Amino acid sequence: MPAEGVALRPKSHILSFEEILRLASLLVAHGVTKIRLTGGEPLIRKELVQLVSRLSSLEGLEELTITTNGLLLPRKLDELKSAGITGFNISLDTLQEERFKEITRRPGLDTVLDAIRMTADAGYDPVKVNCVVIRGFNEDELVDFVDMSQHLPVEIRFIEYMPFDGNAWSNAKFLPYQEMTDIIQETHPAFQRFGESDSETAKLWRVPGYQGTVGFISSMSDHFCSGCNRIRITADGKLKVCLFGASEVNLRDAMRDGISDEQLIGNVQEALSRKKASHAGMDAIAASENRPMILIGG
Ligand SMILES: C[S@@+](CC[C@H](N)C(=O)[O-])C[C@H]1O[C@@H](n2cnc3c(N)ncnc32)[C@H](O)[C@@H]1O
Repeated sequence: MPAEGVALRPKSHILSFEEILRLASLLVAHGVTKIRLTGGEPLIRKELVQLVSRLSSLEGLEELTITTNGLLLPRKLDELKSAGITGFNISLDTLQEERFKEITRRPGLDTVLDAIRMTADAGYDPVKVNCVVIRGFNEDELVDFVDMSQHLPVEIRFIEYMPFDGNAWSNAKFLPYQEMTDIIQETHPAFQRFGESDSETAKLWRVPGYQGTVGFISSMSDHFCSGCNRIRITADGKLKVCLFGASEVNLRDAMRDGISDEQLIGNVQEALSRKKASHAGMDAIAASENRPMILIGG
């Protein structure tokens, strides 16, 4: 959340459920097998459970997941599970209350920890925990996070800090993947990599004998663009084929202007054909304009 906050959009700027469902059905009919709902904060959207039920019944959709700050999850977990959510990513950047307040601008660490435990108890395995690592802020907690994986079926996902507008980015705050593993190995020498998959965003590691695992999202130091098959649709209906690219295709206005399904999917395919082989690199990304992450969704 940028320090100055973000201006709330009028409701009419945001995709309606019908528009979300139209896009989702069309994309799933054309081969999309996984949808992740993010935000903003998805759990504050009214009637989210109804949307999830409708999405989860789309023929061909294999995974329907949510990325959330976890604050409302203890209250909504059961309903979301019944409606068909297959996985949760819960964002948590620190295990210390004061730091939690500093980065999220509100209290609530215990609620998020409860949410993680409850999600695991509800049978989700792994529960993914997204932790953005910022030098000088939370690198001293890397081992504490790894130790959360000792008795919980979590995948702690350490995400390299990425430059976005409004997030007070500086090179000095960047801590690369390699350095994170070195820091962890000082305490856990047996911490080791396992499994490899080209299309996975996370490089998976674990401490032998621990129940959970650790994933590293090295988007900056060792990007995985060649295996990236994701597209993003922002809450206001703009298609982004790369998280780090400013270019957007306005699907919302096209739908409101009466575009046919055929033309709509054509617009998506055209944008995909312009997807670049890789992003421009950390420094170029930092120097370019893009939305703040809070308006992209992750
Ligand atoms: C923007 S949030 C949106 C969903 C939800 N409100 C949440 O808190 O999870 C999605 C993810 O983006 C991550 N994120 C935000 N800014 C980031 C940055 N500069 N670099 C890397 N990851 C970032 C967050 O930690 C979170 O896991």
